[in-house]
Amino acid sequence: MHIGPYSLPNRFFVAPMAGVTDRPFRTLCKRLGAGYAVSEMVTSRPDLQKSLKTSRRANHEGETAPIAVQIAGTDAQMMADAARYNIDRGAQIIDINMGCPAKKVCNKWAGSALMQDETLALQIVSAVVQAAAPHGVPVTLKMRTGWCASARNAPSMAVAAQEAGIAMLTVHGRTREQGYQGQAEHETVAHIKSLLRIPVVANGDINSPEAARAVLARTGADAVMVGRAAQGRPWIFREIAHFIETGEQLPPPTLAEIRGWLIVHLHEHYALYGEYTGVRSARKHLGWYVDALPLPEGLVPDAAERFRQHINTLDSCEAQLHSVAESFDAWQAGLDAPSAHGDHLEHLNWKLAA
Ligand SMILES: Cc1cc2nc3c(=O)[nH]c(=O)nc-3n(C[C@H](O)[C@H](O)[C@H](O)COP(=O)(O)O)c2cc1C
Repeated sequence: MHIGPYSLPNRFFVAPMAGVTDRPFRTLCKRLGAGYAVSEMVTSRPDLQKSLKTSRRANHEGETAPIAVQIAGTDAQMMADAARYNIDRGAQIIDINMGCPAKKVCNKWAGSALMQDETLALQIVSAVVQAAAPHGVPVTLKMRTGWCASARNAPSMAVAAQEAGIAMLTVHGRTREQGYQGQAEHETVAHIKSLLRIPVVANGDINSPEAARAVLARTGADAVMVGRAAQGRPWIFREIAHFIETGEQLPPPTLAEIRGWLIVHLHEHYALYGEYTGVRSARKHLGWYVDALPLPEGLVPDAAERFRQHINTLDSCEAQLHSVAESFDAWQAGLDAPSAHGDHLEHLNWKLAA
């Protein structure tokens, strides 16, 4: 699988998710089997490029190549400038966002709203491709199947974008109108794949190794992209890779493995955001991890909920790390000595409640 000159280790990609796929999370996903990761979208507005949020998103220190940055905006010239700006800061691939349904983005006629205006959308694609070409940087595009059920124009836009020079297309199998409702459909992706010669990536509701295999088979896509199912479960990529290579399920990771990954994730998260923001923005990741833990029935529900409630009361890195370590120890002890489940959890719950 190639994007322009870049050869990728596999065809299992982590989706860009604003507020989730920051550099620490992307790095972890790549370490655990994702072949490719795109940054959260960064605005093309020059007045916001110096903001803390945007400059954090444009920080790629230590990330493994290729570094792919997603840009969002509504003005072709600004988008071309944004491409050059991010290339100067290390972007090796530029991805254009025409898939995001968020109001904040769509009201400004960016994201998936651009699918309503094919002329403007293609002006943006051409301008970004021309800005990136002298640097040898490929441009990719992420879109939905259309604006609404009666305007599913992804196939014609895909062909036009290919002619304008994009190197890869990702399609989320929903319209803008659907938001995240209903089921993603991949028939449109299969149709688009049959029309294009560039790599096509299927996205939407891929939440297991079986689903990844089924979507690859049904669409003929070159790769699959996983978003929400990777939240708190970055190891899903190695599970998908193993299943597709061998036809067998990889055993779930041990608690000790997850604990190790999580502690590294937290340290990298605090290093990027600092203590105040880092502790708060780590809470959602912690909640997702706990939901994804391979714990037996009966052990999880109460302990996970209490853990979440407790974590929300802590406001220092040290306390958060300590609570994570202590909780994992208690869960591990519960697994090692099932008869002592009650005692260990009683102890943990008492401590968390204290
Ligand atoms: C919290 C969140 C943030 C997202 N942010 C972006 C984004 O910045 N750019 C983008 O192209 N798509 C974004 N998406 C859409 C995802 O990339 C993906 O297309 C969508 O979640 C469907 O894939 P899934 O079913 O595997 O989650 C976001 C989705 C979520 C849930």
